[in-house]
Amino acid sequence: MPQQPSYTHLGGLRDIESFRRYLTEHQINIPCDDQLISGTASPLAQPIDIGGTTIGNRIAAQPMEGWDGTAHGRPTELTFRRWERFGASGAKLIWGGEAVAVRHDGRANPNQLVINKHSHDDLSRLRETLVHAHKQATGSDSDLFIGLQLTHSGRYSRPNAHGRPEPKIVYHHPILDSRLGITPEHPVLTDRELRDIIEDFHNAAVVAAEAGFDFIDVKHCHGYLGHELLSAHTRDGDFGGSFENRTRFLREITGAVRAANPALSIAVRLSAFDMIPFRKHMGETCGAPESIDGLLPYRWAFGVNVDDPIEPDLHEPIRFLSLLRDLGVKLVNVSAGSPYYNPHIQRPAFYPPSDGYSAPEDPIKGVARQMQVTRELKQQFPELIVVGSAYSYLQDFLPYVAQAAIREGWTNFVGLGRMLLAYPSQLLDVIQGRTLQRKLICRTFSDCTTAPRAGLPSGCYPLDPFYKNSSDADRLKQLKATKKKD
Ligand SMILES: Cc1cc2nc3c(=O)[nH]c(=O)nc-3n(C[C@H](O)[C@H](O)[C@H](O)COP(=O)(O)O)c2cc1C
Ligand code: SF4
Repeated sequence: MPQQPSYTHLGGLRDIESFRRYLTEHQINIPCDDQLISGTASPLAQPIDIGGTTIGNRIAAQPMEGWDGTAHGRPTELTFRRWERFGASGAKLIWGGEAVAVRHDGRANPNQLVINKHSHDDLSRLRETLVHAHKQATGSDSDLFIGLQLTHSGRYSRPNAHGRPEPKIVYHHPILDSRLGITPEHPVLTDRELRDIIEDFHNAAVVAAEAGFDFIDVKHCHGYLGHELLSAHTRDGDFGGSFENRTRFLREITGAVRAANPALSIAVRLSAFDMIPFRKHMGETCGAPESIDGLLPYRWAFGVNVDDPIEPDLHEPIRFLSLLRDLGVKLVNVSAGSPYYNPHIQRPAFYPPSDGYSAPEDPIKGVARQMQVTRELKQQFPELIVVGSAYSYLQDFLPYVAQAAIREGWTNFVGLGRMLLAYPSQLLDVIQGRTLQRKLICRTFSDCTTAPRAGLPSGCYPLDPFYKNSSDADRLKQLKATKKKD
């Protein structure tokens, strides 16, 4: 009989001393303060300069899609509400709000926002909504830096119907193809098609700049197109094989964007390491890696040890960051893996999403892995401004770790994802000296990931009253009950 994994849920630890003891006992090497600091002395409240512009604190709002745009890719009231909450979070670095597709067939879902020449008003209104809420929460918007994350979903494109993947791949993958029903005959994007997509990024950047955004992110993470290109070792032609070819997409986008919009900063969100895909295996309670029999050396991922692809290897990611530096990209957001094929790496959670698997490791190890890689990259590239990811699983202890990570230089920014959906002002409450609201803390129930997988808008169904009391909450409950029976 397989054993149930038994990890301690951090929500059960009483206080910071218990948490620190837990870290020691489990040999988790992450920094952690004893006390929270408010006001201007807080490490989280320190401004930072980026190319002559000041960003007013060390909190970054990570991009998070809501699956709530219209069929034409326009924002709805739910989208505006989310951007308003991102603004009210007090984060002075807004990383894109959410992934916005540069063309219809590159949408990750039929409700993803799309950017085109008609988007100017929608995007400026979203931005203004965020700025207004931010000003109300913090008193000033002069030190707010706002970007837009531009994406093509590549292998994970699903533009027309929630249940209908329409993958655009850059190479055939020995494990992932079958998960999406991709046959060996499925066409690979041609170099010509990739150049058309590059042009869509150029056009999108112009619109983003005109709508008032300070920067764009050329997304290179989570298994989407930019990220898949980085591992296109087996592809022929201009975009595959050598490191130079695999980074051509980035170079061609940044070159033309910079020439057309010199005032627009360019940033990159990167899955700095990866792992082979995991899955739920029959008879096992927690997820396990897919078999790699006959697949070594493993050539279908970026930032992994090719001989042991559950280990990160930072040689190429370091080369990639050198390239970013040479291209004048100053802002890098470090993420990892993919929410589709190894979610425990990308967004560590105690409770898996409905299509996921129980955590194969204590989720805090996933947090520590991302923090340590971010630290290593930061040490190698002191001149880059770095955002760290995957802090939400730390729950009540997030602010203690965040303070210490900034002070000790593990990262320049603490990026908040799920915590922002549940409790947007957690870190602002620390800076402004308010008592933390325990009942709002994200407990990593994963409903914000499960809901979209069922075609429902994303949001914090367990804790945000707006979603908790919606009719979608009942549909989500039914879906989870059915999944449990399966
Ligand atoms: C509902 C949801 C939507 C997300 N959408 C995006 C996205 O559009 N772009 C992106 O780069 N990451 C996206 N992410 C990943 C988050 O930005 C973040 O990296 C991840 O949740 C881990 O951080 P956390 O532990 O603070 O949640 C999303 C995550 C969630 C939960
Ligand atoms: S649904 Fe809410 S509590 Fe659950 S992971 Fe998402 S933000 Fe956190």
